Amino acid sequence: MEPEERILGIESSCDETAAAVVAGGRRIVSSVVASQLDTHGKYGGVVPELASREHLRAIVPVVREALSRAGYSYQALSAIAVTEGPGLAGSLLVGITYAKALCSVTRLPLIAVNHLEGHIYAVLLEAGHDLELPALALVVSGGHTHLFEVTGKFTYRLLGKTRDDAAGEAYDKVAKLLGLPYPGGPVIDRLASYGDPEAVRFTSPKMKGNALDFSFSGLKTAVLRWVESRGMEQEIAERRARHGAGFEELLAATPKATLDLLASFQRTVIDELLSRVTRSAGEIDARTILISGGVASNRGLREAAAHLAGIPVLFPTPALSTDNAAMIAAAAFPKLHRREFAGPDLAAHPALSLA
Ligand code: KG4
Ligand code: ZN
Repeated sequence: MEPEERILGIESSCDETAAAVVAGGRRIVSSVVASQLDTHGKYGGVVPELASREHLRAIVPVVREALSRAGYSYQALSAIAVTEGPGLAGSLLVGITYAKALCSVTRLPLIAVNHLEGHIYAVLLEAGHDLELPALALVVSGGHTHLFEVTGKFTYRLLGKTRDDAAGEAYDKVAKLLGLPYPGGPVIDRLASYGDPEAVRFTSPKMKGNALDFSFSGLKTAVLRWVESRGMEQEIAERRARHGAGFEELLAATPKATLDLLASFQRTVIDELLSRVTRSAGEIDARTILISGGVASNRGLREAAAHLAGIPVLFPTPALSTDNAAMIAAAAFPKLHRREFAGPDLAAHPALSLA
């Protein structure tokens, strides 16, 4: 039997420093994610300069930890894969520079991976690579809200994307304006399940041109107007002062009207996402739907997507939905087989597109 190929993946495109070893394209041998939540939490969003500095601090121990948990030395690897973009320029550069240095010392080939393709592979890691095609892929995170048609293996066609904020960004901004902790997605997701999603009616933005594009900045502004019209300053200040408290305490101190607002906001985001998914799946006659990225761990979205008409909808487990390096290593396997290697001149591509 051929020995399984093993790839070390490195991810540093935003605010997670991550490294993982994946064997045979599917088996996660180790996966380490160092989050920068403590650094960015007090600002309510990612501060790029601080992110690069934290990556610099974390990259060496994180990679070491991934290899030591796997029990492998560099000789046991077939390649090193790294995220080349899209993402924050300074953050990407830390991962790329370190990966290049490791490759030059170990003489392992370097593989450049698109972060969005990584998110799609997070689903394939668990579901297997033999999907019925064409597939529809929604990548929905703090930085992206993109719909792709997956036409064949490794060929993508962009069907629609956000024209302003990404869906996760809308969660983070709404959380910030309501005095909730960062990142906003997980906490709003939990609080929303205690509110009435029909309580506040938000209108869908009218999209001129491509009807499969998204827009979330109007929704964020509508939430802001709602908050301003109700004079919630004291409630918000008290909530901010309580950061770090447990969820039960936060829930008990949140008025019903605010829970209803959050449930209605979440319902609107889910409706916006799934209306495009349903429509585009019909247009391309999709056989499978893949939903990945940080927002894919949203419980409301998972429940609602389970009821989409007759097409299997696949999600990664929540730990693989948010940024990680196992998805980067997994996406590198087909490139290893095609011997698609990057040179020592590999640069960061902050605005890299997938299609
Ligand atoms: O994929 P990810 O880790 O990083 C990016 O590539 O952006 O996604 C992080 C984003 C954040 O905006 C966070 O608020 C959102 O995913 N998120 C969620 C949930 N968990 C994380 N949004 C909604 N519901 C969740 N349960
Ligand atoms: Zn991501």
